Amino acid sequence: MTKNIDLAIVGAGPHALTVTTHLLQKRQSIRGRFWVFDPSGMWMSRWKQQFAAFEIPHLRSPAVHHPDPNAFALRKFAEPRPHELFAPYDLPGTQLFADFCQDVIRVWQLQNQVIPLGVRSIEPLPDRVRSRFRLCLQDGQEVIAQRVVLATGSAKQQIPDWVKNIPTYPSDRLCHSQTIDLRKLQLAGQRVLIVGGGLTSGHLALGAIARGAKVHLLLRRQLAEKLFDAEPGWLGPKYLKDFFAESNWQRRFEMIQQARNGGSMTPAIATQLRRQMRSGNIRIDENCQIVKAQWLGESWHIQCSDGSQHECDYIWLSTGTKFDVTTEPLLKNILAAYPIPIVKGLPVLDTCLRWPGCELFIMGGLAALQVGPTARNLSGARMACEKIVPAIVKPSVAFSPTVMSVQAS
Ligand SMILES: Cc1cc2nc3c(=O)[nH]c(=O)nc-3n(C[C@H](O)[C@H](O)[C@H](O)COP(=O)(O)OP(=O)(O)OC[C@H]3O[C@@H](n4cnc5c(N)ncnc54)[C@H](O)[C@@H]3O)c2cc1C
Ligand SMILES: NC(=O)c1ccc[n+]([C@@H]2O[C@H](COP(=O)([O-])OP(=O)(O)OC[C@H]3O[C@@H](n4cnc5c(N)ncnc54)[C@H](OP(=O)(O)O)[C@@H]3O)[C@@H](O)[C@H]2O)c1
Repeated sequence: MTKNIDLAIVGAGPHALTVTTHLLQKRQSIRGRFWVFDPSGMWMSRWKQQFAAFEIPHLRSPAVHHPDPNAFALRKFAEPRPHELFAPYDLPGTQLFADFCQDVIRVWQLQNQVIPLGVRSIEPLPDRVRSRFRLCLQDGQEVIAQRVVLATGSAKQQIPDWVKNIPTYPSDRLCHSQTIDLRKLQLAGQRVLIVGGGLTSGHLALGAIARGAKVHLLLRRQLAEKLFDAEPGWLGPKYLKDFFAESNWQRRFEMIQQARNGGSMTPAIATQLRRQMRSGNIRIDENCQIVKAQWLGESWHIQCSDGSQHECDYIWLSTGTKFDVTTEPLLKNILAAYPIPIVKGLPVLDTCLRWPGCELFIMGGLAALQVGPTARNLSGARMACEKIVPAIVKPSVAFSPTVMSVQAS
C-alpha cells in the first residue's frame, strides 16, 4: 500500500543530518512526520567512506561547522580530546568528527531514522490545493510526500575530454578519485599520474607515496594554496551582502566561480608535497594538461599540451565534480512539470531554496545561487537550513499551485 508522509528527506549525508536537527530544534512535533531515505541505511555513509578511502586525517573546515544547531557543540564535545583539533582554527580530526556526528544522531534520537532505500524517481502529482510528490523507491515501493528535501550531494564526476578518445583500457588503470580507495591498493614501485590541483590530489599523492609509488602531479594551472575552499568572508555579510544584492543570476554564478577559483590545497598539504618533491617521490608539473593518453598494454603513454611525453602505470583523475540540475535523474520530472531558469547548470530556486511552484527544497551545490560559494560545504548546510526550515515549519509561505503546468500520471 502506498504510504503518505509529510516530509521526505532524500539522502542521509551531512546536509540531510543538518536539516533534520534544525527542523527538530524548531519544531519537535515534526518528529515521526518525516522519513529519511539513503541506500546505505546509515547517516554520513558517503562522507565516512571518502575520508577513509583518502586517509584524510582531519577536516578542512573549522570546528564550528557541523550538523548540530548549536555551533559550539563540537567544541564542547572535543573538550576531553583537545589534541584532535588541528591547527590552524581547530580543524576537527576525522574520528572526532565522526564520533561527534554519532553523538548528534544519538542526542536527537535519529538512530533508526534512515530507511535503507534509494529514491529512484520523484514525480509531482497534480493537485489543485497543494503540491505532492510520488517517490518511487529502489525496491519498487512508492510513497506520497507533501514535501521533499533533496540532499543527495548531486555531484557529477568531471572527466576531461581526452579520456573519451581512449578506445579501451583496464578500468583500474584510469579512474576518477571518487572510485579510489587507498586502503585497497598496493603501489610499491608503481608510477601514478594524478590530474588536478585540488585537495583530493594532495591526499591521493601522499597516500600513493606512502605505498611506495612515484607520483607525477599534473595541474592545468599553478598550485593554489588556500586554507579553505572560499574565504571566510563568504560565511557572513562581508561578501554575501553584495552577493544577495546581485539580481543577475549569471553574475551570481561568476561570483561563485571567482570565490572558489577552482581547486586549491591547504598550505599544510602543499608543504608535505614539497618535502616529497625534495625526496624525489613526486614531480609536479604546473600549467600542463594531457592532450592524449594511450594504453600500451602494460602502461600509459601520455602526451601533454607543452609537448612533453610521459610513461606511467596509473592515471588518477582528481578533477573534482560539477553540479548540473539538467542531468540529475531525481529532478527530471520536476524540471518537466515546473520549468525554471537554469544558469550554467544551477537552478534558480526561491529564497527558501524551494523549487518555484512546488514544495521541493534543494540543499548542497545545486543551491549555490541562493546560498553562495560554500553551498556544498558543511557551512553551506547550516546556511541552507536558515532558509529551508522556516518555510517547512510555516508551509503557508508563498506556495502557488497555479504554476503547475504539466500533468503527471
Ligand atoms: C573528500 C572530501 C572531503 C571534504 N571535506 C570537507 C570538509 O572538511 N569541510 C567541508 O565543509 N566540506 C568538505 N567537503 C565538501 C562537502 O561537505 C562534502 O562533500 C559533504 O559530504 C556534502 O554533504 P552532502 O550531504 O551534500 O552529500 P553526501 O555526503 O554525498 O551525502 C549524500 C547522501 O545522499 C545519498 N543519496 C544519493 N542519491 C540518493 C538517492 N537517489 N536516494 C537516496 N539517497 C541518495 C548518498 O548515498 C549519500 O549518503 C568534502 C568533500 C570531499 C569530497
Ligand atoms: N577535508 C579535506 O581534507 C578534504 C580533502 C579532499 C577534498 N576536500 C574538499 O572536497 C572538495 C572537492 O575537492 P577536489 O580536490 O576533489 O576537487 P576540486 O577542488 O574541484 O579540484 C579539482 C581539480 O581538478 C582540476 N580539473 C578539473 N577538470 C580538469 C580537466 N579537464 N583537466 C585538468 N584538470 C582539471 C581543477 O582545475 P582548476 O583549478 O583549474 O579548475 C582542480 O584543480 C573541495 O571542497 C575540497 O576542499 C576536502
